[in-house]
Amino acid sequence: METIFNTTRLRVIVAKWRRNGERIAFVPTMGNLHDGHISLLRHARETAERTVVSIFVNPIQFGKGEDYRKYPSTLEADQEKLMRLGLDVLFAPNLKELYPAGIEEDTRVTVPSLSSILCGEFRAGHFTGVATVVTKLFFSVQPDSAFFGEKDLQQLMVIRRMVDDLCIPVEIVGKPIIREDDGLAMSSRNSYLSATERAIAPVIHQTLKMAGADTVDPSADFRKIEKTCFAHLENSGFKPEYFSIRRSNDLLEANRNDRELSILAAAWLGNARLIDNVQVSLHE
Ligand code: PAJ
Repeated sequence: METIFNTTRLRVIVAKWRRNGERIAFVPTMGNLHDGHISLLRHARETAERTVVSIFVNPIQFGKGEDYRKYPSTLEADQEKLMRLGLDVLFAPNLKELYPAGIEEDTRVTVPSLSSILCGEFRAGHFTGVATVVTKLFFSVQPDSAFFGEKDLQQLMVIRRMVDDLCIPVEIVGKPIIREDDGLAMSSRNSYLSATERAIAPVIHQTLKMAGADTVDPSADFRKIEKTCFAHLENSGFKPEYFSIRRSNDLLEANRNDRELSILAAAWLGNARLIDNVQVSLHE
């Protein structure tokens, strides 16, 4: 696996692959790799002759006062993990490479509606930051397909919408959430949890599953379930931002006629902002 820091060099290699008719699968990450990332990489590797992973902590998707400066950077340990996977290229550009004009007045990509609900309501500009950097990465890597985790379900949907709207010829593939044994969704931010908080953290997944089971009751009141679950998180020591039962196709508020549900939550636990979701299908 070659580590490439510069887009010009990456383009030379990608052009050679393309001339040989090889397909390219791509997994964008911010590094500090865990089994959630590794699972995406394994899936990607199986679908194409060439696999590229990127590591770039993207400043413009972090809000003021968020954890950009302290986001865990572990390039050497990440390279070790990647070495064993038999990938072709690790693309690790620096800030200037992806933001030649700086990060204040440069061009942005915004996906309306989807970007302003749920996490977007609490993290203004976050999804514009994600859509912008993923566009830049797509133009740099020029992949046939790109793999994203369902852990960041709203992000996955923003990216799907973006490639549809902008006619970007990249197939977007979503893959299931990888969890710790106790149900906590793996995340680089779990390292911010103290031992006491780490013991409480699985409650977020337990509460989502509880809500999922409750929605199956034909007389279930979705808004009441949301309130009860929000309060349960508060009583367990979280500071929840939202707990919401949504329609899977567009993430708008679900009601009793909807069959495919996504139940999503975001909650602070100490210094860690945790997000998670479960899918429920109400078909018999
Ligand atoms: P990052 O948080 O590093 O995640 C990279 C990819 O790994 C994302 O697609 C994310 O959904 C997936 N992932 C993270 N935890 C996972 C888990 N427990 N199970 C399955 N997949 C998981 O998401 C980003 O980086 C950035 O926003 C990025 C897309 C790279 C743009 O900067």
